[in-house]
Amino acid sequence: MDIDYVRSRFAKHFDGATGSVYASPGRINLIGEHTDYNGGFVFPGAVDKGIVAEIRPNGTDRVWCYSIDLKDWVDFGLNEEDAPRTSWAKYIFGVCCEMIKRGVDVKGFDTCFAGDVPLGAGMSSSAALESTYAFALNDLFGEGKIDKFELAKVGQATEHNYVGVNCGIMDQFASLFGKKGSLIRLDCRSLEYKYYPFDPKGYRLVLIDSVVKHELASSAYNKRRQSCENAVAVIQKKHPQVEFLRDVTMDMLKESKADISEEDYMRSEYVIEEIQRVLDVCDALEAGDYETVGQKMYETHQGMSKLYEVSCEELDFLNDLAFDCGVTGSRVMGGGFGGCTINLVKDELYETFIANAKEKYKAKFGRSPKVYDVIISDGARKLA
Ligand code: GLA
Repeated sequence: MDIDYVRSRFAKHFDGATGSVYASPGRINLIGEHTDYNGGFVFPGAVDKGIVAEIRPNGTDRVWCYSIDLKDWVDFGLNEEDAPRTSWAKYIFGVCCEMIKRGVDVKGFDTCFAGDVPLGAGMSSSAALESTYAFALNDLFGEGKIDKFELAKVGQATEHNYVGVNCGIMDQFASLFGKKGSLIRLDCRSLEYKYYPFDPKGYRLVLIDSVVKHELASSAYNKRRQSCENAVAVIQKKHPQVEFLRDVTMDMLKESKADISEEDYMRSEYVIEEIQRVLDVCDALEAGDYETVGQKMYETHQGMSKLYEVSCEELDFLNDLAFDCGVTGSRVMGGGFGGCTINLVKDELYETFIANAKEKYKAKFGRSPKVYDVIISDGARKLA
């Protein structure tokens, strides 16, 4: 994330002016996928890639935004009916509106931003963008009075109300609460969280990007969430205390099998197992047992591919390839339908695995995957 580059673009496009500079990262998730909106556990960490934005209040009621990467200008007013049509600008507009709903007196500003989180790779470039602006507007117009959880909810509500993705809280949480060198286990029901220093001696975490973009997956994502809610509605008839799939055991699910569609049943089975896997991985990490961590990652991949059905041919191929190379753990990361696999690899296997993945993936699909080493980093912050 290059702050000088953003500063030079801001000065160029806004007549030599300077503003304040903020940054927020993308995220990885070691395990716990599609569990957040089911009240379960997730285990993410922030990465060293993210969004950097420079912002200066401009004394008007209009926002002027320049996307440095897309070389695109958008300006908008701050009323609900002023929503821009350009998709990237909806995130910034949504954050403004959600901050206003929370009592922040957002006024017009000039801004430009750039990022190095790959788009559509399952590393939450959109949460990085939302968190950057939520953090910045809170600082510039809200006297810092909105706490970080509420800022995460601002980003999530932006997705729900202005983008159309009914996401959970994981991505925005990780982008705001990230801490260098630590993963964070979040209980998405109570919002309790715990930092786990992550320094697996002898292993590395690496992402292999299938370069299949998942941008068009929002309706499939919302459908998965709906399936989970359908199952909960059925189970609640017998167990009124149930609020989320988090509260459901496999026995309770089986008991209602006749009243749940086959598809909703499969989805629920995956989620119930996945919530438990996060806890198992936390225990394994504390015991330094990376073999178990890796095995759970493979189980997650199977579940996401066969029960939750959010993998794709390319990601299954990368997962099989990792297994055949002897990689300790591998799975599709994030919402799915494209993007990256996350791989826990022994140091001595790293070079062979990467070379193999590049060569075999290219031979099969005609394009090279991208490789990102994971560096677990800090969350949202003011840079200048
Ligand atoms: C996307 C969503 C998150 C979460 C993941 C899947 O990244 O934004 O809330 O549901 O998918 O774990």
